[in-house]
Amino acid sequence: MSQEIAKLEIEGKIIELPVITGSEGEKALDIKSLRAETGYITLDNGFVNTGSCTSAITFLDGEKGILRYRGYPIEQIAKGSNFLEVAYLLNFGKLPNKKEFNFFEEKVTSFATLPEGITKIIDQYPLDAHPMGVMSAVTSSLSAFYPEFLDAPLDNVQRERVIAQLMAQVKIIAAYFYRRTIGKSAHRSHPSLGYSKDFLNMMFFEEGKEVDEAVGHALDVLFMLHADHEQNCSASTVRVIGSSQANVFAAIAGGIDALWGQLHGGANQRVLEMLEEIQKAGGDHKKFIAKAKDKNDSFRLMGFGHRVYKNFDPRATIIKEQCDIILEKLNVQDPLLDIARGLEEEARSDEYFVKRNLYPNVDFYSGIIYKALGIPTNMFTVMFVLGRLPGWLAQWKEMREDVAAKIARPRQIYTGERLRDYVPMKDRK
Ligand code: CMC
Repeated sequence: MSQEIAKLEIEGKIIELPVITGSEGEKALDIKSLRAETGYITLDNGFVNTGSCTSAITFLDGEKGILRYRGYPIEQIAKGSNFLEVAYLLNFGKLPNKKEFNFFEEKVTSFATLPEGITKIIDQYPLDAHPMGVMSAVTSSLSAFYPEFLDAPLDNVQRERVIAQLMAQVKIIAAYFYRRTIGKSAHRSHPSLGYSKDFLNMMFFEEGKEVDEAVGHALDVLFMLHADHEQNCSASTVRVIGSSQANVFAAIAGGIDALWGQLHGGANQRVLEMLEEIQKAGGDHKKFIAKAKDKNDSFRLMGFGHRVYKNFDPRATIIKEQCDIILEKLNVQDPLLDIARGLEEEARSDEYFVKRNLYPNVDFYSGIIYKALGIPTNMFTVMFVLGRLPGWLAQWKEMREDVAAKIARPRQIYTGERLRDYVPMKDRK
């Protein structure tokens, strides 16, 4: 088939740009040669309309509310799979058969303790440190304890091992730090319990008490929904760091830091804080809607809006269902849920939000679930880290396996001072 070409006229000159078509019919203009041919670059603040790579991991259609991992719809994944299997799927491109899954699980299990040096590092953090800072720094510190994973480029076997290692250890770091903050000794990881049950067990272990199977499953569903979301802010950060061939620990630590921001993963903590604020203000959500609409006020309705989803966020739909199931299972009556429902109802019929296609996103109801599970508010974004980790790893792996991958190095349009002469300090006013 002949290459589709788009034509662009610049200063009277016609430039031919190859059209790249994805497997779902998405189209892009390949502008690689634009600067060389015309001296122009493209400018797209915030990468609103820029494809930074081709990728075979996750497909999403924001207009239709579609999300698929390796072709499988998120609804089917959430219903039938488990988080570790999703990690395998994202990273290795296929659903594992029994043998492949067991092999992967065994590898994860082989990393189920932290090096002593790492626990000593965690022990040095102030108890009121934000857990996201701890997660990022300690993940980066793993590089000091696993020098065998620093070689670039890693071979296939090492890549698989480091993926298993991080899948095993990042959750232990989170639980270890949490246990410290509540003055309890660490409880060891038992990966055979399943990813989420093991994590809840490490967090909340008490002699004679077992984590409920249904609760473990519900958390697994939440993690599956968060597992990848193509080139979002944190995944792009992982790719940018990894593109310089920095080690995987540095890349994942960077992803954690990017996720921390309140416009990204940090929104789930902010949602709960916002709901609590509304509760304190007597439940008057109308006042907060008005604040969010006021262009002179920087306040935004947290958990609303999405760069890509402009119709509905399919993850939010599933999370809302899970929220009802978990609260009923745990027999929790949370007044914040009523406030959240009221806020959603109000916003959905408000012209400001309707006109801008602002719907609840993945972060809107997840915090209520985490709260019901007993997770402290400042650890909500850490929960997102655990969920998103396999996606970051898959994005890093895909990039490192691409022999044509280039170091990420965007251009800019300079708007600063033009040439001027240096003035010695004695002559300055
Ligand atoms: N509350 C009030 N107004 C909003 C909101 C909101 N939550 N989100 C967007 N807007 C308005 C915004 O002011 C702008 O209005 P106008 O066209 O009049 O200037 C318009 O909607 C478009 O917003 P934008 O900021 O240009 O859109 P974006 O694609 O750059 O930002 C977003 C997307 C998710 C950062 C933004 O919707 C937001 O800040 N939401 C609240 C934070 C949040 O929930 N983040 C989690 C995102 S989903 C999970 C994740 O990525 O981690």
